[in-house]
Amino acid sequence: MDCRHIQFRDCKFSVDLNQLQHLFKITAFWAKSRNLEDLSTAVMNSDPVITVWDKEQLIGFARATSDGVYRGTIWDVVIHPDYQGLGLGRKLVETLIAHPKMNRVERIYLMTTYQQEFYRRIGFETNESTTMVLHSSDHGVLITPQSLVDQSIPESLESLV
Ligand SMILES: CC(C)(COP(=O)(O)OP(=O)(O)OC[C@H]1O[C@@H](n2cnc3c(N)ncnc32)[C@H](O)[C@@H]1OP(=O)(O)O)[C@@H](O)C(=O)NCCC(=O)NCCS
Repeated sequence: MDCRHIQFRDCKFSVDLNQLQHLFKITAFWAKSRNLEDLSTAVMNSDPVITVWDKEQLIGFARATSDGVYRGTIWDVVIHPDYQGLGLGRKLVETLIAHPKMNRVERIYLMTTYQQEFYRRIGFETNESTTMVLHSSDHGVLITPQSLVDQSIPESLESLV
């Protein structure tokens, strides 16, 4: 396939959420059941967000969250099945990490279940030593707004409040 007309866009405000939801449904096992409202929140809270277009069809997506200097994390990298194996996934990740919000970040992390080889070819290494996870069902129990309110202030600090 001639990919010269394929466009990469760096604008989260131009993401068509209906097309994104469909792309995830057919491509991303971890994101098949995401609703539009939550997708919108995830997109708006990410920077950069890179999309790939064949004319008006969304055929690729990737996003990152980053502090711009020390740490960044890549999320939700997908290329439409009809367009896989053409070098677009590599270009998508390279575009994401070349973005000004990412290009001076000391360490860029990502989580992947099956695509280690794809990322290895781009330069990522396996990193087994640093990964832990807290699921929302667990942290809801650990830290609730009420438990924060309930914390009493030590007497020694009361005069400072
Ligand atoms: C993973 C994915 C984004 C790769 O996109 P793609 O456009 O097919 O990949 P590319 O054509 O750019 O491949 C880049 C390189 O990785 C290699 N590669 C791609 N997928 C691979 C795989 N599953 N196993 C081994 N190598 C792979 C290619 O052969 C190519 O190697 P080369 O540059 O040495 O020729 C795409 O297959 C996809 O969307 N998969 C489903 C969603 C998914 O799993 N996303 C990753 C979530 S962490």
